[in-house]
Amino acid sequence: MNLSPVQLSYEEHGSGTPLVLLHGFPLNRSIWKPLIPLLSDTARLILPDLRGHGQSPAPEGTYTMREMAEDVYQLLNRLGLDRVVLGGHSMGGYVALAFAQAYPKRLAGLALIASHPAADTLEKRQSRLVQARQVRSRGQAKLASQMPAALTPNPVVAAQVSDMILANPKQGIVGALLGMAEREDTTRALASIQVPALVVAGSEDRIVSPETAAEFIGFFPRGWMVEAPGAGHLPMMETPEIVAAALRDLIRRA
Ligand code: MLT
Repeated sequence: MNLSPVQLSYEEHGSGTPLVLLHGFPLNRSIWKPLIPLLSDTARLILPDLRGHGQSPAPEGTYTMREMAEDVYQLLNRLGLDRVVLGGHSMGGYVALAFAQAYPKRLAGLALIASHPAADTLEKRQSRLVQARQVRSRGQAKLASQMPAALTPNPVVAAQVSDMILANPKQGIVGALLGMAEREDTTRALASIQVPALVVAGSEDRIVSPETAAEFIGFFPRGWMVEAPGAGHLPMMETPEIVAAALRDLIRRA
């Protein structure tokens, strides 16, 4: 496998169990900000920007989930971290699942937040390829104006999301779209993840509903779900207390 990892930009806060949190598409590490005061007495929070997002490098090309997981692996090595609790939001969850498959011994616990293990449907894959072409030729202004309302009913959070989308380099957005379109279904592989696995689903999430989460949770040997009432696709920003309590519980079990 030809992997070319990049050096991720990251920030860290607090002390305790290492907890690495990966943001979703096409956002950046600032989505985790509301959790920092709620978790920094328990966890050493490590918050990277994935490649192509925030302040991390944005090479040209397709960002496979495996390649993005390799970037995270290199970051853990750089920090001298052996085992961590790894959480991923949406696309960050796809990356966390790729990490769990490649480096199971480096995992003490796993959290999927508004995420799932399924591959794209044919229709979804095609719409990503169209979107990638549009972003490459015309930039991401349309995505920044349309996507936030689909992610959250909260207008303050939606405005923050729009700013994050506009601030990302367009080759980063394109690379992530192409990589997500290529990803494979990992539902069956959940059975080999032996660590405690938390799934958080927003009750109002139109992308990954609690019903969708309930369909795959049983594949984890040690999985459980927490529903965040009133949250959409961004429960760490919309209902941070619920997400922080669920992550504390995961850390306790890990
Ligand atoms: C995300 O929030 O990362 C995206 O909704 C993931 C996706 O488009 O599948």
